[in-house]
Amino acid sequence: MTDPTHGFPDGFLWGAATSSYQIEGSPSADGKGPSIWDTFTRVPGAIEDGSSGDIACDHYRRWEADVDLMADLGLGAYRFSVSWPRVLPDGVGAVNHRGLEFYDRLVDRLLERGIEPFVTLYHWDLPQALQDRGGWPERRTAVAFAEYSRAVAERLGDRVTNWITINEPWVVAKRGYLLGDKAPGHHDPVEAVLASHHLLLGHGLAVQAIRDVAPQARIGITLNLSPVVAASDDPKDIDAARRFDGDGNRWYLDPLYGRGYPDDVLGDLESDGVVVDRRYLGSPDDHSFIAGTTDFLGVNYYERTIVRNPSTGAPPDVAIPPDAEITDMGWEVYPLGLTELLVHLTDEYRPLSILITENGCSYGDGPDLDGRVHDNRRIEFLRDHLVAAFDAIAAGVPLHGYFVWSLMDNFEWARGYRQRFGVVWVDFETQERTPKDSARWYGGVVVANGIN
Ligand code: FCB
Repeated sequence: MTDPTHGFPDGFLWGAATSSYQIEGSPSADGKGPSIWDTFTRVPGAIEDGSSGDIACDHYRRWEADVDLMADLGLGAYRFSVSWPRVLPDGVGAVNHRGLEFYDRLVDRLLERGIEPFVTLYHWDLPQALQDRGGWPERRTAVAFAEYSRAVAERLGDRVTNWITINEPWVVAKRGYLLGDKAPGHHDPVEAVLASHHLLLGHGLAVQAIRDVAPQARIGITLNLSPVVAASDDPKDIDAARRFDGDGNRWYLDPLYGRGYPDDVLGDLESDGVVVDRRYLGSPDDHSFIAGTTDFLGVNYYERTIVRNPSTGAPPDVAIPPDAEITDMGWEVYPLGLTELLVHLTDEYRPLSILITENGCSYGDGPDLDGRVHDNRRIEFLRDHLVAAFDAIAAGVPLHGYFVWSLMDNFEWARGYRQRFGVVWVDFETQERTPKDSARWYGGVVVANGIN
């Protein structure tokens, strides 16, 4: 094999990612309790195609073949999430060992096949029982999350080294509790702020709990981050961009790196009439947990954000250049944003290590007459983003791994099954899996440890 033109550092981790609710199905198997997504998908109109994760990729029953598939593709790492209501059907209390058993066996098989497990503890499927008691806006949910994390680490921590506490707290807080297009579907700005604080606190408490029982653990959190630019030089657009960056990026990064919540965003909340006790949000005790040392920062990157302020005074709106390429999600394809983001994070926050825990695209390309899926747009997307990651490393970013979203087509939340992010095609009628051309291409990247 010839040397790749873009060779990655030795030991660079190449993986793929999924999450429990999006792939597992079997919503009440082996004593699992309901999650807020089991509830939310029943709300008429909540999911575009009226679907749910009841079956999804049926991974709960097909996991062995799925691990074999990963091994065939040559993956070095697999990021999956543990379903909290499988482990604690009521959110707290007695551990349901049959639920943990599933992940125990999954981890063993991954290790047997030479695939490094990366365990996400919270990828959005909160036990409904905890939502019934107030959910993330309640402080006790953060405490419950740490207890649950401890239970999982007690069971898996002898074999699992890499842990991600929370996936995308912004999405959980904002989309779940303010915009309402994700579970639990609320529209309450105060709830959203409180949720964001308790998600961060839950992360901090969980880091301690995991380290208690698995001292060799490497732990991080995953944020959805986007470089933000103003649509024009108009001061209104510039301020809208500041707000967007503050609310989406800095609100999470600043406290995680010991700076507390950004003053300007606290000011925005006040001027918007969102009344939350500043002393509560600023509690030094809470912040000592939130800013506790982590081993890596997980970055999910999909697109940059160009912000304009509609003169109507409506919330900042996202603009996409008219000539931009967009995916089936309507997201702009902008690989350079990944380099910009990673370099900025490194300059500004100096994380010890960064992992791209998600990056990918939705394109509907399906099997051709030859039975293969020629998803060239996805190959191009992945190649351009990997070149962008390579450039970031060359610029000094401590980037140590990349996980493509997703291993396989799955339940894309409110968008249902119409959006396909997988490098493996799933026929949801038969559950047949077909590696797309992008999966084979990505397998080649893994083997070469770089791009040709
Ligand atoms: C991210 C989610 C992931 C998937 C991708 C497309 O925000 O973490 O589950 O839905 O978007």
